[in-house]
Amino acid sequence: MQHLQPNTTLQGGKYRIENVLGQGGFGITYLATQVSLNRRVAIKELFIGGEGQAINDRRGNQVIVTNSANQQSFLQQKEKFKKEALRLAQLNHPNLVKVHEFFEENGTAYFVMDYIAGESLRTKLNREGRLSESLVLNYMRKILPALEVAHKQSIWHLDIKPENIMVDKNGNAYLIDFGASKHIENNSTLSTSLALAYTKGYCPPELADLSYGSQDDLVQALKDIGPWTDIYALGATMYNLLTDIIPPSSNRLYREGRNAFSFPSGVSSAIKDMIVWMMKPNREERPQNLVDLLKSPKGQSFSEILNRQNPTNAPYIVYMLVSVICSLFVTGFAFLVVWFLFNPFRDILLSMNISPGAGSFIFIILVIIGMFIYLPKVNMRLIKYICSLFYK
Ligand SMILES: Nc1ncnc2c1ncn2[C@@H]1O[C@H](COP(=O)(O)OP(=O)(O)O)[C@@H](O)[C@H]1O
Ligand SMILES: [Mg+2]
Repeated sequence: MQHLQPNTTLQGGKYRIENVLGQGGFGITYLATQVSLNRRVAIKELFIGGEGQAINDRRGNQVIVTNSANQQSFLQQKEKFKKEALRLAQLNHPNLVKVHEFFEENGTAYFVMDYIAGESLRTKLNREGRLSESLVLNYMRKILPALEVAHKQSIWHLDIKPENIMVDKNGNAYLIDFGASKHIENNSTLSTSLALAYTKGYCPPELADLSYGSQDDLVQALKDIGPWTDIYALGATMYNLLTDIIPPSSNRLYREGRNAFSFPSGVSSAIKDMIVWMMKPNREERPQNLVDLLKSPKGQSFSEILNRQNPTNAPYIVYMLVSVICSLFVTGFAFLVVWFLFNPFRDILLSMNISPGAGSFIFIILVIIGMFIYLPKVNMRLIKYICSLFYK
């Protein structure tokens, strides 16, 4: 039994474990109920799995460190785990989960956060196959500002991949799992939370280099980590979502350059160029930060595409076509309604002893205000509905 069983309680009955949501190298994430408010929360527990498994074990609910020699490294992991929670708690953005509480119990540590009723992009990709460009861009519209909030506080995520982006039915996307994140503190030493992540395909050379080398090299190598490291992983994530192919390794990118990519038809050239730029193996050649990515002359076409508001999953051109047809239909329909209603309404106003001219004038103003308020809403609903019939 490596995880807490359903119905186990924590904090003297404050939280009740429901089931396991995910299990990684350093933690187990549970779905739980916050009993007093009867609401769902997600609780992450420090439990070292995978290759580090030998460090800890579980007896009943208790996590025990296997021997005294491992005590030190478990304590270190606990400190880093706490940093993950503190770091996430500092960040405030609707597309990042909120942390409610950190506590120690059962010989280990826990933090409580918002539960996202959804699935990871990996799960979605496994089920549906590659995603459309417009869907990927819809998710990027949510993830980029969330990442920007972290970057503004000098927090690099360092483990961006489809597994660590969750999406829900309403098309929201959340960047989760700051377990590998780093923060450049004021004294400009780097503090790491948990281990470094090396996920094949998402790991740029400067991050891979950290796994080799001496301690001295490490200090230097840490300086090579920055927003560009997340930008690489984000490019790799977009590539994986658009193609359902594991992104090329940086070695292959050095060798083959652009030929290492194979995009399906239907991906626009602006997005292809953008991914190739984001995944340049030399970090100096990548966008250096998100402002560079979106606002520099090179990033302009990408930001134009991102700013084209397309709230549906249909390709932009289809969305525009449906919009034009729906708008014509809705306005035409509205004018017909006004036409039919005009006389009876004017009669009512006339019977209120308002002069015919003023009556018509008031009526027209009311209709125009009503149209401005309601027509766009009705129109957008119709556009979304029609697009959703063909593009889920
Ligand atoms: N706040 C949350 N709400 C719902 N599910 C979550 C939440 N956080 C994590 N999960 C689920 O648990 C899995 C693992 O969580 P994650 O934070 O990525 O930890 P790790 O990868 O370190 O094990 C995620 O892929 C996701 O399915
Ligand atoms: Mg994860």
